[in-house]
Amino acid sequence: MIKQVLVLNGPNLGRLGIREPEVYGSASFADLAELCRSTGRKLGLSVEVRQTDDEREMISWVHEAADARLPVVLNPAAFTHYSYALRDALAMRTAPLVEVHISNPAAREEFRHTSVVAAVADGTVAGFGLVSYQLALQAIAELAAEDDAGPPEPGLPEPAEPAEPATPALPGQARLLGP
Ligand code: DQA
Repeated sequence: MIKQVLVLNGPNLGRLGIREPEVYGSASFADLAELCRSTGRKLGLSVEVRQTDDEREMISWVHEAADARLPVVLNPAAFTHYSYALRDALAMRTAPLVEVHISNPAAREEFRHTSVVAAVADGTVAGFGLVSYQLALQAIAELAAEDDAGPPEPGLPEPAEPAEPATPALPGQARLLGP
């Protein structure tokens, strides 16, 4: 069955192409939407792309996704950095959520270093231009396939606990694996 996915975009992303092209590139929002749809087709996803400058409308789309159990790829744009209302709406999600950014906010102004939505997402892809969206859709395809597979069949053995390392880590020593 083809999985439906929403790609939601926040304020000023409708102006891609003319908006600070040195940061966001020269592709238009229509180009981005077409790239998302064609990437989705290759992944077996039916992708609908939306953009709004309005927080109320964005939140209503997040509610709609939660009610319909739709996975979401979300570029919250500036809402990323301050919208607790959007974060609270996303916390009610019922399907995978991947946060995306075209630029790498961690390498930009201080106020962009905080994402109030990151902690309620499955993960974040940032800094790869429009490729960020393609990677996010790939992640959604994987997460949705895991969800469809459902819990392991009853009666099957639980996966084994990872073995303790042969040499316990010394205090203060970095460990590569495990908690
Ligand atoms: C953005 C990064 C945000 O800091 C900014 O407010 C945006 C776009 C990005 O895609 O790089 O509007 O989310």
